[in-house]
Amino acid sequence: MYCNLLKSIKIGNLELKNRVSFAPTSMGLNLEERIDKFCKIAKSGVALITIGDVSVRSSFHKMALSLSNEDGIREYKKIVDAIHDSGAKVSAQIFCSDYDMNLIRNTMKLGITSHDEIKKIMDDGVKDYVTNMPKEEIKNIIEMFRVTTLNAKKAGFDMIQIHGDRLIGSFSSSIYNSRIDEYGGSCDNRSRFASEIISSIRNDIKDIPIDYKLAVRQENPHYGNAGVLFCEVEHFVKKFESLGVNSFHVTLANHSKLEDTIPVNNHPYFKDEGCFLYLADEVKKHTILPVCGVGKLSSPDFIENVISNNRVDMVAMSRQLLADSDWLQKVREGRVDDIKKCCYCNKKCADALQTHSQFGCILD
Ligand SMILES: Cc1cc2nc3c(=O)[nH]c(=O)nc-3n(C[C@H](O)[C@H](O)[C@H](O)COP(=O)(O)O)c2cc1C
Repeated sequence: MYCNLLKSIKIGNLELKNRVSFAPTSMGLNLEERIDKFCKIAKSGVALITIGDVSVRSSFHKMALSLSNEDGIREYKKIVDAIHDSGAKVSAQIFCSDYDMNLIRNTMKLGITSHDEIKKIMDDGVKDYVTNMPKEEIKNIIEMFRVTTLNAKKAGFDMIQIHGDRLIGSFSSSIYNSRIDEYGGSCDNRSRFASEIISSIRNDIKDIPIDYKLAVRQENPHYGNAGVLFCEVEHFVKKFESLGVNSFHVTLANHSKLEDTIPVNNHPYFKDEGCFLYLADEVKKHTILPVCGVGKLSSPDFIENVISNNRVDMVAMSRQLLADSDWLQKVREGRVDDIKKCCYCNKKCADALQTHSQFGCILD
């Protein structure tokens, strides 16, 4: 029963004990509460936990840790050690925001404090930020990714995930990137920023497995503004593979509405279980590297099926593991009927992050 889901897999030089991972999930919780949540999920037997949004910049917000300095390394090491003690491997999702920090500061100086208003100003500023970013700043950020990966190693992380959405996704997207230099225009030019990040990490740190979160834009109907078009997937995947990426994590591109990348139960388009797997199917056509699927995955039978049919090599779950951290233990023990099924309401997870209210799950 579930023998494919429970089979080990290698990503680069990293052996994972099964095919189930906790998807990158930022939580509005303090360090101790976060560690507690991660450890519960790890103890149920999940092979890999990916820590979401590990910033390459020093923290702007007090809840957000950064791996850019010694303090951050110390704090992240506490998380990593606790997860290792609970039996799982840990990946750091290395991330750079595409919000212009100067615009944030200026907006705040104007006395604007409404979260929605600030978010709109930031979202509207992405195109100018990406298009006008000086080359010197591009080089700085590439260097920050390299240093942050070195720091991730120091903190004991087993792997990194390059967050190919947000700033990298915006550079990749013709919607946000209107540059007329070698970082804009053709598909090859728009993949240059990500490629230089991958190369600078790989050239300096030979042995760390690199997972790439590839964010794909959906057209007709249109969902997601960052990321790459379906027809551009082949170019990006082959290029990144040639530069030393070890696996892909595939999902819908961001920068439309969070309800699309974290779709609610009655979403008009992304309704079904495995709603983003059609994007992973496209990646699978162009690589032999392991591909991880994500998006409304919860039923063990469905997951066993997509892995045994070779649609994906691994799965990542966020909300289902928030709803029931014992998911994998129940699967292993054949207690599938005891699983608390996520109803994808988003009320106490994704929505709570937006409204800064108590983070958790309505099923807790
Ligand atoms: C509360 C919450 C926080 C999230 N934070 C991140 C994040 O930091 N980085 C990221 O790439 N995705 C993040 N996601 C998206 C998930 O990784 C995942 O792609 C999405 O929730 C769909 O998977 P699911 O249906 O299993 O929840 C978050 C999702 C949730 C629910």
